[in-house]
Amino acid sequence: MKRKIMVFDTTLRDGEQVPGAKLNLHQKIEIAQQLKRLNVDIIEAGFPASSAGDFQAVQEIARSVGNSVSITALARAVKSDIDAVYESIKLAQNPLIHVVLGTSNIHVEKKFNRSKEAVMQMGVDAVKYAKTLLPQVQYSTEDASRSDFEYLWETIEAVVKAGATMINVPDTVGYAVPEEFGELIRKINERLKNLDDRVILSVHCHNDLGLATANTLSAIKNGAEKVECTINGLGERAGNASLEEVVMGLKVRENYFNGYTNINTTELHRTSRLVSHLTGLDVQVNKAITGENAFAHSSGIHQDGLLKDKQVYEIMSPEEVGADSMELILTARSGRHAFKNAVEKMGFDTSDAEDFEELFAKFLTLADAKKEVYDHDVFYLVTNHGTVE
Ligand code: KIV
Ligand code: ZN
Repeated sequence: MKRKIMVFDTTLRDGEQVPGAKLNLHQKIEIAQQLKRLNVDIIEAGFPASSAGDFQAVQEIARSVGNSVSITALARAVKSDIDAVYESIKLAQNPLIHVVLGTSNIHVEKKFNRSKEAVMQMGVDAVKYAKTLLPQVQYSTEDASRSDFEYLWETIEAVVKAGATMINVPDTVGYAVPEEFGELIRKINERLKNLDDRVILSVHCHNDLGLATANTLSAIKNGAEKVECTINGLGERAGNASLEEVVMGLKVRENYFNGYTNINTTELHRTSRLVSHLTGLDVQVNKAITGENAFAHSSGIHQDGLLKDKQVYEIMSPEEVGADSMELILTARSGRHAFKNAVEKMGFDTSDAEDFEELFAKFLTLADAKKEVYDHDVFYLVTNHGTVE
């Protein structure tokens, strides 16, 4: 039987840690609403102990989308952080407290300057306290991939006995390689299933060596049941595993992985563009799944093959991820017809002629300034114009 893989989106927490990606309250809510349309299983809405603004954003997200998607937020293993998470997410229907604490020698010695036993006890105490507030608690063993395995396992065992319902294994600094990370997950999964098979095993991979997606997929192959990702792979330094890549990797190779997600993949492109527009961070043109060129074929040989049968050079259709098969790059000389075509292709109505003329005038101003107008610019123009539906 195929396994369902849960998708935990941390665009609003790890993704928001990208320098320059500061989002205001309204923008965070807009992203959370789109993540709901995308049908993610869990939204990590922020780190409420970090600031009053973050607390408020998590609280508003819990209020606005927390009736249909599970909401979590991050806490260090200290009471005040856990209280802040609880207070900000408690109105959601399915709230989850996320506690993080390091397990590698580097973290234990350099960050905490305490004994391993004392650090483990901090984790156990944090889980026990979180459990007095909510039934669902995730524990992240920060820097797991650089941790001594027996200590990592002892920590997992102790926090599960204390009540953790999800164990998240992060490759915090993007150090792992796929075979090795898969093996780590296989070993943890084997022991975890014997300890308590209700506990969900999760992974959180960073992209410092460009391996976050590969490591995440390798973990799924080896028993992970939940993946932590961000839209466009945003996140600390080189970012996190990109949600769209992991989800489509799993979908295109469903039989190989014997698993599936509940993601509405036709919303992927729109979500990517929205996050790019609101954070001001471009999607690289050759980015898998959502880059401008992801479905562009330029060589004559490829075009010839595609004309005979799309499958010759396409492993997934652009429509499956909500993208156009051929993106038209608009300029000020493109004219009304091309612009109208682009707007309608995105599903917007252009039947009100007067309104469309106003929108077209705005397009010309933008095209003069920018020279090339991409899909995400058109999307922004229309959604901010107000009257075209
Ligand atoms: O990278 C990391 O270890 C994290 C944890 C909070 C899961 O972001
Ligand atoms: Zn992270």
